[in-house]
Amino acid sequence: MIDTTFDCARERAPASAPPLPEYMTEVYEWAYVRPRWVKFLDRNIVVKTLLFGNDERLIRAYLERIKPGMKVWQVAHVYGDLVRRAAECCGPMGRFMLSDVTPIQLQHARQKLQGMAWASVQHADAAHYSTNVSCDLVCSFFLLHEVPDSLKRKIVDNMLKQLPEDGEALFIDYHRPAWWQPVRYILKWVNRFLEPFAEALWHSEISTFASHPERFEWRKRTVFGGVYQIVQVRHKTTTAAQ
Ligand SMILES: C[S@@+](CC[C@H](N)C(=O)[O-])C[C@H]1O[C@@H](n2cnc3c(N)ncnc32)[C@H](O)[C@@H]1O
Repeated sequence: MIDTTFDCARERAPASAPPLPEYMTEVYEWAYVRPRWVKFLDRNIVVKTLLFGNDERLIRAYLERIKPGMKVWQVAHVYGDLVRRAAECCGPMGRFMLSDVTPIQLQHARQKLQGMAWASVQHADAAHYSTNVSCDLVCSFFLLHEVPDSLKRKIVDNMLKQLPEDGEALFIDYHRPAWWQPVRYILKWVNRFLEPFAEALWHSEISTFASHPERFEWRKRTVFGGVYQIVQVRHKTTTAAQ
């Protein structure tokens, strides 16, 4: 089997890696692929600006789900210090696994997680990666809106496939803004020119991207006038025990 694991403690390079998906070079090259831009963009202030000041609120919705000792898979890297904070929440008794498809993003993630032996970075597509570990929490933080709909389905299915009976999947992403939310018009423009796959989340619930949504309990809340959604997913059988 091909080993594409970076052990943050030992700085091991991957033997092989999946190819960069087409949308990453055709749509997001400037944002995630070119090292010079990535160096400039990988800051908290950028995340804060992109999220209209809602960064901490959304990050908190993720971090408060992590208890020390948990095993967490975050399906893609995020700019700023989120990755390090999530790994810190897991702590040395837990595990933090991060996957991403872009070499420069993996490099940044590896730097951020240096010295945390319980954290690992995998060069893998979130649609296909298998953690081989029973995860307590699987989180997609603003990945779905960036991928084509066919890949949204694969990523959602892959995350849910790996969910143990008592595990939780968490999706934090864009949503359809309320009619009165002025940011709606800025985002319409951004989506049109920069984020061609984002508006699918305005029109479809994340559950509709799952092959078997009926097997899960979906709890959605929205914030900032509907601009963002936080969706918690659990197997139906375990919901009563929450
Ligand atoms: C999580 S998304 C956007 C997050 C947010 N805009 C931020 O502040 O970084 C960005 C990351 O997703 C990664 N990515 C894109 N497609 C992916 C896939 N299929 N599997 C795993 N990671 C992917 C990109 O390489 C990039 O590092």
